[in-house]
Amino acid sequence: MAEDLINNKDIYFPSYLGTNDKLITLLNRASQTLCEWFSKADKNGPLPFDESFKCIMPAEDGDSEEDLFSEIESLLNNSFNPVHPGSLAHLDPPPLIFSILGDLVAAGLNNNLLAYDLSPSVTLLEDSLCKWFAKKIGFNDSSGGIAASGGTLSNLNALIAARNNAGLGSDPNSVLLVSEDAHSSFIKCTRIMGLDEENLVRIETDNKGRMNIQNLRKTLDKCSINNKKIFAIVATLGTTVRGAIDPIKEISEICKEKKIWLHIDGSIGGIFALTSTQIEGLNNINQANSITINPQKIIGITKTSSLLLVSNMSTLENTFSTGLPYISSKDNIINRGEIGIQGSRPAEVIKLWLGLRSLGHHGIENILNSSIKRKDFFIKNISKNKFDIYSGPLHIISFLPKGLEPKDSDAWTQYKVNELMKNNFMLSRPKFKGKYYLRAVMGNYNTKDSHIEELLRLLDS
Ligand SMILES: Cc1ncc(COP(=O)(O)O)c(C=O)c1O
Repeated sequence: MAEDLINNKDIYFPSYLGTNDKLITLLNRASQTLCEWFSKADKNGPLPFDESFKCIMPAEDGDSEEDLFSEIESLLNNSFNPVHPGSLAHLDPPPLIFSILGDLVAAGLNNNLLAYDLSPSVTLLEDSLCKWFAKKIGFNDSSGGIAASGGTLSNLNALIAARNNAGLGSDPNSVLLVSEDAHSSFIKCTRIMGLDEENLVRIETDNKGRMNIQNLRKTLDKCSINNKKIFAIVATLGTTVRGAIDPIKEISEICKEKKIWLHIDGSIGGIFALTSTQIEGLNNINQANSITINPQKIIGITKTSSLLLVSNMSTLENTFSTGLPYISSKDNIINRGEIGIQGSRPAEVIKLWLGLRSLGHHGIENILNSSIKRKDFFIKNISKNKFDIYSGPLHIISFLPKGLEPKDSDAWTQYKVNELMKNNFMLSRPKFKGKYYLRAVMGNYNTKDSHIEELLRLLDS
């Protein structure tokens, strides 16, 4: 029986017997293929894609190992490559080495964060790591959190909890306040929550892209006159286009005064709270009821990695718990499918844990500081006479030649994105206040000053 299993050529699963030689050979080969792809980045550029790329679907019989590896190579060679130093378009940095290992281990474990029984050690790990983050940002002992697949879902978890906490259920008069520069995920959140788009009220920003407090106060008064019930105010800690930080202290005071839930969307900037890096406006975040932090966006924890931290864990339990009738429960241990929207979830917390442990505080700080230094270097050297520049305290810069009309901004950014791509620089072109801009996100650790100098030369030409 044992012999049969070990010698069987149709090995579908890891064996509980023997040494899993076949799997080891395949993993070695896959590692080799992946590492070769990383080192080909320089030759292939940030975004190689061949229009003839074909997605081949499963046949009657399983494909051979050779065919599958050739498909893996083709997939890699037609993929965005975040390790290329010119990959500066989005919040998608190179993957941390120990996070890659974490993903591999999580896949092999195939545990399920739905329930303690299905993931005992990982359940404790996720709980501990969330509490560790919560303590770091200054929450007290009742705090904790839950991981989710990305910032959108963490924001949604928070807002559903906020509305439940306000006792508003599906009240059509429930209103959410965000700044006009807040992320588009809040549009999705309101739709999913069954609210009209007019229930998402946008507060004007000041000339630095931060929520205008006077405008917030006026809006609150208007809502009160119109019998609108505000279930949360969102302060953004790092806006998507220019990395601005809303005035958290003032907003938190208003929330306390009016007894409104404060959610901080720290998808971009929240991670800086782990470090002693001085970031203007990054203060008082422990006054929030909830905060989204996305370690995938700067420090390179592999996707997806997002946490929702809450000051009081019972708010999540009260909102999401159903009793999970088909799952057993243990006293004092929460089945983690009971504190968020998602049911089954992979053990992705492992790559966060391994990534952070491999870096330590110094490594985390080094990566975050380096992103700010690259931003500073870019801003110091870009021609201020030629460009309007939008950038806050974080590592994002949007810019456009001065005096361009909206139509010309569209044409210029399209042309420039293509030209830059020919020179292996990938930038994005967000639409912002009626015009298109070029945006550089300086979260790529492989990007050196010499690359930025080259980019600036190309922008000037
Ligand atoms: C400020 C902000 N919040 C939320 C999100 C959504 O995060 P995700 O794409 O992980 O869902 C983003 C994405 O870039 C963002 O910039």
